[in-house]
Amino acid sequence: MKKIEIKISGNPISAYPGETIVHALWAAGMAESVQTGCAGGVCGACTVTLRYADGRPGGTELACMKPVEEGMEIFPCPVEPDKPVEPVANANGLTLQSIFPTVNRCTKCGSCTTACPMSIPVMDSVMRMQEGCFDKVTEDFTTCIHCGLCRFVCEDKVKPHSMGLWIRRSLGKSQAELKIDVKNSERVEKEWQYLLVEGKQERIQRAKNFRESGGLPE
Ligand code: SF4
Ligand code: SF4
Ligand code: FES
Repeated sequence: MKKIEIKISGNPISAYPGETIVHALWAAGMAESVQTGCAGGVCGACTVTLRYADGRPGGTELACMKPVEEGMEIFPCPVEPDKPVEPVANANGLTLQSIFPTVNRCTKCGSCTTACPMSIPVMDSVMRMQEGCFDKVTEDFTTCIHCGLCRFVCEDKVKPHSMGLWIRRSLGKSQAELKIDVKNSERVEKEWQYLLVEGKQERIQRAKNFRESGGLPE
């Protein structure tokens, strides 16, 4: 197969069309150019920004999922983890605002939604955070892989990802009935089998059902 040329931080390398950026870098002996973890779109480690040769708008991507194209320019974009914030039981919108005062700085620019590789409606979720609609926020962030790109691109330092994570942890802390009863391991085993079904859409749907009902379907 004919190879194409791409650039990583300005350095040209050749790659096979359709292979992922990470595979192209591995084959070129440049594995360390971009951070990697799972190599399967789950851990959020391999964040990059891109430019296309044909002038299409570039943007943020996961290098382990993005296929290379002729003339593509890749710039590693490691996102520093944010300091974790302790969850608070029975938190509401006011609690959130006191811990993350930046929540009200959102200018609705939409950059966070555009940057999210998991197609999460991040900006809409920030609006829901402002309104204290935490149940919906936890649902929005179900598929978040914690890459931090939404936080990275936010000029106003709103920290959507950090708030989403904090809300999910705070709701978990509030719901005593969701605490895992380690003595009842048979039930826990059944719940995991139900939740870890093959197929992404079905998995997400089951996670939503489980969260809403607090257990397995009747
Ligand atoms: S990037 Fe920041 S300011 Fe823009 S919509 Fe997202 S949270 Fe709001
Ligand atoms: S919500 Fe933010 S941290 Fe989560 S996957 Fe999307 S961009 Fe990454
Ligand atoms: S290496 Fe884990 S998401 Fe890319």
